[in-house]
Amino acid sequence: MKQIILSFLLYVIGSWAAGCGEPRVRKEWRALSPSEKSAYISAVNCLWTLPAKGSAVFPVETRHDDFAAMHVNATGPAAFNSQGDLIGLLGPGIHQVGVFLPWHRYLLWVYETALKEECGYQGAQPYWDWSLDVPENGGAQFNASPIFDPVTGFGGNGANGSVPVTIPPGTTFPTGLAGTPLGSCIDDGPFANKLLVLDPGPPPDGILTAGTGRCLKRNFQPGLVDGALAWNANVELVLNLTAYVNFTRGFDALTGSGIPSGPGIHGGGHIGVGGEMANVWSSINDPLFYLHHGNLDRIWALWQKKSPENIYAHGGPIYPNGTGVTTLDSLMYMSEFVAPSLPIRTVQDTLNRNGEGFLCYVYEEVYGL
Ligand SMILES: *[C@@H]1O[C@H](CO)[C@@H](O)[C@H](O)[C@H]1NC(C)=O
Ligand SMILES: *[C@@H]1O[C@H](CO)[C@@H](O)[C@H](O)[C@H]1NC(C)=O
Ligand SMILES: *[C@@H]1O[C@H](CO)[C@@H](O)[C@H](O)[C@H]1NC(C)=O
Ligand SMILES: *[C@@H]1O[C@H](CO)[C@@H](O)[C@H](O)[C@H]1NC(C)=O
Ligand SMILES: *[C@@H]1O[C@H](CO)[C@@H](O)[C@H](O)[C@H]1NC(C)=O
Repeated sequence: MKQIILSFLLYVIGSWAAGCGEPRVRKEWRALSPSEKSAYISAVNCLWTLPAKGSAVFPVETRHDDFAAMHVNATGPAAFNSQGDLIGLLGPGIHQVGVFLPWHRYLLWVYETALKEECGYQGAQPYWDWSLDVPENGGAQFNASPIFDPVTGFGGNGANGSVPVTIPPGTTFPTGLAGTPLGSCIDDGPFANKLLVLDPGPPPDGILTAGTGRCLKRNFQPGLVDGALAWNANVELVLNLTAYVNFTRGFDALTGSGIPSGPGIHGGGHIGVGGEMANVWSSINDPLFYLHHGNLDRIWALWQKKSPENIYAHGGPIYPNGTGVTTLDSLMYMSEFVAPSLPIRTVQDTLNRNGEGFLCYVYEEVYGL
């Protein structure tokens, strides 16, 4: 454990010393060449072959599971009604709170670094601009996205097609966000035979439990997310929110953000892919998680570019119920076998221009593809 922390610190110090010399360039999935795509998929697969570093703490087997366990645990407890439907997150957690965007930005950097340093990946973390796959931008439809290609992508829908997602009466959360994922196992692409060793969330009593080995499920819901994932009609609406707290709440179309209720751009990617991706805790098990969150992080970076004050803009509650205020010193809690907990100020600037952080990356834009 000490060695992990030491190597991470050396890495951080190394980046400080070098400044942000040569940013990693994160590209949209379809802008990668066939060999870049296959190099990324190989590196993701490689994490599934390396031993876990967190097995003394959680019932994990591989390096892939380390990240999954960390996200399940960090998401924390939730509230359910007497029918067992999800009605709210408790927390503090990492969703619907002020650390949401910084925490996921930090996670992406740590994951991208693991792919590079532990699996020899030469490229940067790709992102998935799903707005290219919805009718507004001439996308045939969500289901037809090249990202789901069985050979050059991540594989497609569950083998038995989709089961509908509904919103249980008296709740605002759609079905399938907790417990056993809806839909069926995928049977094509590079992740069809993967075994997920942790039970999906939420963890009972805060303890992560080992399952007997589940498959990766998907449960596409194209019609449900077409509006949420539309760039001109929805992403721009979020980007146009000038106050940080409104902007971050806009990702989940939360009350007061001014974004029409619905899955939001965050929920849109998760619920649109569905199955494992829809589970608030274990969605990170689907490798698409990192490309979806890459796009959300890019949208934050685009918003930060709008004005110098936006780079260090922050805020939002500590608890999903609205209690507390996130400051630049608020910590992003990561399990120590993944990365040390650091204050959000260290990840506000993707180019670390004031030297308080360590990030060094940019997003390549895709319009013109
Ligand atoms: C699809 O449905 C059939 C019939 O119910 C079932 O036997 C099979 O296991 C299912 N496949 C998947 C991948 O869930
Ligand atoms: C966002 O703001 C720009 C600039 O003011 C405006 O042109 C655009 O229509 C707005 N977009 C939406 C979806 O409101
Ligand atoms: C943020 O949203 C609230 C609620 O919709 C609104 O009253 C407020 O004016 C917004 N703040 C800014 C700076 O746009
Ligand atoms: C919000 O949640 C926190 C942590 O559970 C609790 O201490 C606080 O009292 C809650 N606040 C409200 C307004 O319910
Ligand atoms: C799991 O999450 C709890 C907070 O809910 C935190 O106190 C604990 O340190 C986490 N454990 C690990 C190993 O990350």
